[in-house]
Amino acid sequence: MIKTVSFSKPLTGTITIPADKSVSHRAVMFSSIANGKSIIKNFSSGADCHSTLNLFKQLGIKSEFLDEKTLWVEGGNLTDSNSALDCGNSGTTMRLVSGILAGQNFNSVLIGDVSLSKRPMKRIIEPLTLMGAEITAADGHAPLAIKGCPLHGIEYISPIASAQVKSAILLAGLRAEGKTTFNEPYVSRDHTERLLKYLGAEIQGTTIYPSELTARDIDIVGDISSAAFFIVAGLIIKDSNFIIKNVGINPTRTGILDIVKRMGGEVYIINEREISGEPCADIRVQYTESLKGCVIEGSDIPRLIDELPVIAVLASQAEGEAIIKDAGDLRNKESDRITCLVKELQKIGVNIEERPDGFVVRKSDLTGNAELECYHDHRLAMSFYIAGLISKKEIAINGFEWTKISFPEFEELINSLYN
Ligand code: S3P
Repeated sequence: MIKTVSFSKPLTGTITIPADKSVSHRAVMFSSIANGKSIIKNFSSGADCHSTLNLFKQLGIKSEFLDEKTLWVEGGNLTDSNSALDCGNSGTTMRLVSGILAGQNFNSVLIGDVSLSKRPMKRIIEPLTLMGAEITAADGHAPLAIKGCPLHGIEYISPIASAQVKSAILLAGLRAEGKTTFNEPYVSRDHTERLLKYLGAEIQGTTIYPSELTARDIDIVGDISSAAFFIVAGLIIKDSNFIIKNVGINPTRTGILDIVKRMGGEVYIINEREISGEPCADIRVQYTESLKGCVIEGSDIPRLIDELPVIAVLASQAEGEAIIKDAGDLRNKESDRITCLVKELQKIGVNIEERPDGFVVRKSDLTGNAELECYHDHRLAMSFYIAGLISKKEIAINGFEWTKISFPEFEELINSLYN
């Protein structure tokens, strides 16, 4: 599907950002392995989270929607589905579920779409194998054949900061003998630790002991990664001023807010509260004429990893230079988010240069007048859309339907801000 986008009027009004994808995945997974029935409110409508839900139904878990975004899940023992489990496009599903299935008393096969089948799985296979798991994969890629085995705890020092790897290990640790500890170079998102604690697991920091989970209702906060597209749009589209309600502001996810502050952007946090163990707030964003470039590196990276494509668009409107370093893992996302981002943004006049572990962006006049490829990558599609809103001439985005992976409501919400 080709989507055309042209120069935007100011964005004003109020929107409510839909559910966090990371928390939605975990809510279904953990409720499925908890004892009892729970209600999950404000579940994501993204295709990735529905892949997780369908997968647990294949594993014998009963669940039904009460309305569009509310469902109940009856947790308990998982059972052999006797068929391949389809993770679709979702790396979170494949990696976290591997940790859950490694310690079961049945065997499983996990498959994914073309993009997911190219993504590295050694990062979970290696530590899970150290715990006693038996996982076979061709050259470290899906399909993954998992033989259910008794597991034992380990202390693992991860070479990369990754919430997916951390979560796979901690979930395996729930059923392993002894304690399991995960260490990483920088702190990655901690939704797994928070939600496991909320459901009664014995977990301190990133050390977990074998535990039973008890079902509890979970209300899901809005997704700051989805809000990021609006934050950037509000900062760069002249005379914009609006409120984004119900945004998760877990400190392991708020790198975008810190960077905006560093760049001089006008973003205000209001009405802070907590929902099912996750901090949440409303955010007011305002057009900011004088943004300045900055360096984004090291511990910043895991706190804004998914926002880097749209941060590139933001940086194209800032004085001086924005330098993004230590982000080599961006090449292992739904696409190679360094090469693909740089190549496509250059087509519409962004002064952006590829580096092995990131990119450099300088202030640019966006000419537009080009067709951009989104490489089956939802976050590239939405980042290009935001770039289109400040481009002199119309742009076209090929593959815009991929936004359905995380944020089907994206364009409708943008349109609701034209008052
Ligand atoms: C996620 C963790 C991050 C992120 C992904 C979702 C999660 O991946 O990029 O979109 O829900 O745990 P890594 O763990 O590979 O950094």
